[in-house]
Amino acid sequence: MTDGSKTDASITDGSPVSRRRTFAIISHPDAGKTTLTEKLLLFGGAIQLAGEVKAKKNRVSARSDWMGIEKERGISVVTSVMTFEYADCVFNLLDTPGHEDFSEDTYRTLTAVDSAIMVIDAAKGIEARTRKLFEVCRLRDIPIVTFINKLDRESRDPFDLLDEIEKTLALDTAPVNWPIGRGRSFAGTYDMAKNTVRRLDADDEAQPVNGPDSPAVLEMLPDHERDAFSEEIGLAMGACRPFELKPFREGHLTPVFFGSALRNFGVRDLIDALAAFAPPPRGQDADTRRVEAEEPRMTGFVFKIQANMDPNHRDRIAFMRVCSGRLSRGMKAKLVRTGKPMALNTPQFFFARNRAIADEAWAGDVVGIPNHGTLRIGDTLTEGEDLLFRGVPSFAPEILRRVKLQDAMKAKKLREALQQMAEEGVVQLFLPQDGSGAIVGVVGALQLDVLKERLLAEYGLPIDYEQTRFSICRWITSDVRHDLESFISKNLSSIADDLDGAPVFMAASPFSLRYDEERAPAIRFSDIKDYQVRDKAA
Ligand code: G4P
Repeated sequence: MTDGSKTDASITDGSPVSRRRTFAIISHPDAGKTTLTEKLLLFGGAIQLAGEVKAKKNRVSARSDWMGIEKERGISVVTSVMTFEYADCVFNLLDTPGHEDFSEDTYRTLTAVDSAIMVIDAAKGIEARTRKLFEVCRLRDIPIVTFINKLDRESRDPFDLLDEIEKTLALDTAPVNWPIGRGRSFAGTYDMAKNTVRRLDADDEAQPVNGPDSPAVLEMLPDHERDAFSEEIGLAMGACRPFELKPFREGHLTPVFFGSALRNFGVRDLIDALAAFAPPPRGQDADTRRVEAEEPRMTGFVFKIQANMDPNHRDRIAFMRVCSGRLSRGMKAKLVRTGKPMALNTPQFFFARNRAIADEAWAGDVVGIPNHGTLRIGDTLTEGEDLLFRGVPSFAPEILRRVKLQDAMKAKKLREALQQMAEEGVVQLFLPQDGSGAIVGVVGALQLDVLKERLLAEYGLPIDYEQTRFSICRWITSDVRHDLESFISKNLSSIADDLDGAPVFMAASPFSLRYDEERAPAIRFSDIKDYQVRDKAA
């Protein structure tokens, strides 16, 4: 890795933790996330040429794109996490899957970041998926930096776009720069706080100017657009809120940058902003206490598992966010769920094209830990302390299907394969207590296709799906053990065990679920299940 810029000593205090910026990019498909990722990596010197991240030529749809990427395992390594250095900071960019479905994978990834870049297509504004991802960020008050992309194309009025962000997301905006022209006449941006200009055709430092009406600015535009621009930027400078660090860090205000990822324009301002404003690793809540990033002892949680990245080895990589302390290669960590020690002999860092053994990692870093099924999503690793990080929950699936095996002789193998897929978080697995066939649950339909394809490719198991009479499920608990047991025995044909053996009640419709809920006041029906420790012998 090379350092892509000069160092700004004021950005960090030099400690490893203060230098970390762990972030994700959230956007609607096609807004430009892949293009921006490439350009960010270019700045960090992590890749030589734009285009290397991309494996999406010939794509027909987002769906086939994802499948294609999954087939080329090398590429999927690239997209999970990418580390690069710039401006004295170490950036960990966590990729959220690019397909249209909202998946739990996406949610979990966002539990592991400290900030996010929201990319908006300047012609389209806020789109459905952006809104959904933003809501997930809001749950944790993750600070958002906004990049309004594709200014080189015909786009909407900037005030309109800012207004839309404020109204639909209830998020204050502070435009940092302002576009000089749009579409064909897009010529650069004006930094409203610094009074500098960055020209589209010059890849150099921003130039200081004497205000937005100065000839140096106006001559960038065609004659007939100059008056309108003067009026517009005058209004923007008078009416828009200036950037302030505190509300940004609290997740209430977003600095907005206009640019074009394709033209590599505005990306430097964006990455400089991340280095300067985005928070270093934040403390994380665990069941017993809050763990601060600067604490000396290592802790971390697994937010993603990826299997079979190397087709020659049946290895699985658990992606762990280090939450505190220093992880050093070879150290013994405690897997809190089982209480057993685990040697971290080959933790890995991921770059744009390759991976490398991590000799040490700090809070905010994401390391891949190869294992053969020992680690699960949500697992906490510590240097001995018994604590569990919160924030990697399971969501009640929105689609339930029974898995039908084409070759009945392979039932045992299917059971094992489903268990592994569920541990990886591809699907949720429910085993009905009446002994009928396994039911899988997913949040988005794409996950069903992925499961089917992977069972065939990796386990040689052709399967089909069958409708079940259930369409909805809830985890059930009760303060009184006897109440729960009696509810379960009365409703046995509607009860299944999840991967951890926790009881789940399945209903035919939301209406019938409500009916059952009303008749069983002692039972809690929950659509979210927090990660829990199971019996230590598991
Ligand atoms: P995504 O990952 O968010 O889905 O978006 P991606 O970067 O793949 O960009 C979607 C399309 O938008 C691509 O065109 C890309 O080249 C284009 N694009 C991204 N940023 C800009 C920009 O700043 N200006 C303009 N004009 N276009 C931009 P494509 O034709 O679908 O793909 P490709 O053939 O160029 O790869």
